[in-house]
Amino acid sequence: MAAQRKTVTLLEVNSTIRNMKLPAKGVLVSRAAEITQELQQGVPKPFKAVISVHFGDGHAMGMKPITFIRQVMAACFYPELLDSEQLPDDVRSRAKIQLQKCDGGSIGSYCDSSGLLHVRQSVSRYIERRDGGVPCDPGDIYITGGAQRALQLVLKMLVHSEGHSKTGVLVPVPSYIRFNNAVEEQGGVMLPYHLSEEQSWELEIEELQRALRTARGQKCSPRVLYVINPGNPTGQVQSRKSIEEVIRFAAEEKLFLMADEVYQDNVFGDDCEFLSYKKVLFEMGPEYFHSVELTSFNSISKGFAGECGFRCGYLEFVNLDPQVRRYAQQVNSVECCPPTPGQIILDTLMNPPLPGEPSYPSFTAERQASLDTLAHNARLAERTLNSVPGISYVPVQAAMYCFPRIHMPSRAVQRAQAQGLAPDLFYCLRLLEETGVAAGPGSDLGQREGTHHIRFCILIPTEKLQVVLSSLKSFHLKFTQEFS
Ligand SMILES: Cc1ncc(COP(=O)(O)O)c(C=O)c1O
Repeated sequence: MAAQRKTVTLLEVNSTIRNMKLPAKGVLVSRAAEITQELQQGVPKPFKAVISVHFGDGHAMGMKPITFIRQVMAACFYPELLDSEQLPDDVRSRAKIQLQKCDGGSIGSYCDSSGLLHVRQSVSRYIERRDGGVPCDPGDIYITGGAQRALQLVLKMLVHSEGHSKTGVLVPVPSYIRFNNAVEEQGGVMLPYHLSEEQSWELEIEELQRALRTARGQKCSPRVLYVINPGNPTGQVQSRKSIEEVIRFAAEEKLFLMADEVYQDNVFGDDCEFLSYKKVLFEMGPEYFHSVELTSFNSISKGFAGECGFRCGYLEFVNLDPQVRRYAQQVNSVECCPPTPGQIILDTLMNPPLPGEPSYPSFTAERQASLDTLAHNARLAERTLNSVPGISYVPVQAAMYCFPRIHMPSRAVQRAQAQGLAPDLFYCLRLLEETGVAAGPGSDLGQREGTHHIRFCILIPTEKLQVVLSSLKSFHLKFTQEFS
């Protein structure tokens, strides 16, 4: 029988979506899934399991959830537990309050599209504490189903995709790839600025200026500057001076600042601390604080809790024109409301147990254990990576990834090109086949022409990281020998 022509053919797919650059990592992820199946079927391999470290998901890699959070959630999901002696008193009273704040006393009910009011209030009090008293209005907080949604909301509102007024968005290289995808999805023009690997991945103002000059010739109107602090995948933390320079640059060039701060709780480097863009902006005085438009982002996916599957994040608008805010509300209302369970986790994180409450000791110990693992793993990775000839590595100060540079022999580069693969994807695929370690190629995240990197997550149990590092080390030596 002749195949029937479908109503929706490729040509009907939105052309912006069709032209989007898909992460090359997709090939790697599919192959990792196939290998897992092969292992289950008893196909012999030189390893027992695939270790997927190409994404930032600690729970998927065996990190334990925080007990207090899960106990509060358990009672919210199953209110019979509110009377159970098995749960500590403070857990039960927290859960009761959460349920009282939900319509119908159930976490299964809808809420406002910008999130539950009490959670927005908790977020604003948390931001005020974090920033040493800089005021925060709950009306400026929007809760979303993950920080990615919050980034998309702002881009949807700001990005024009037509004619000379196409919106130019300055994006770091390397970057968080889903942000770039979201810019493409809205039809914006990506204006890459390179972070300096030689200067420990610093953001240099001269490079921003260069990127902006280049943009002037590109028939677009540069409007947005996206920064990630602490950095993904670079793990660098911006100093106060660096943030001030960026803010001044945004003010001079009339750029809307998007500060992605989802790794704010994952700072472990010596002599560095997280400073929010909002705090620094405030401390630069009214000239800046009342003029520069800023949106900052945070998420429950990162930090010490890593509850990414519950999908919850938030944004805060600073200095948004009230008329523009009306449109933000409009764009956001199309989204429907963010999931309630994630919001309850967010509220619990904003209000951790206090000294004297029954859950305080366990909560504090578990939080510290997660952060200690991260700091310990970062040191372990640094020691190993620095001992491998052909790998150079800028030690990370924060976030949850390593992003070493791989010096590939030219014969390996040629072999990759002959197979139509980016050299670092070729490297990652070989690493996967030979060791079971699935790391992500730097070419997906952006890197300087002619350089090659891989990224892997280090917020994983230390025993697993040891396997990842020793596999990577022996693989790299073998690979280099094979292609030299
Ligand atoms: C820099 C950055 N921003 C945003 C996100 C998205 O977070 P969420 O899981 O809350 O959507 C991530 C996730 O990895 C990220 O690395």
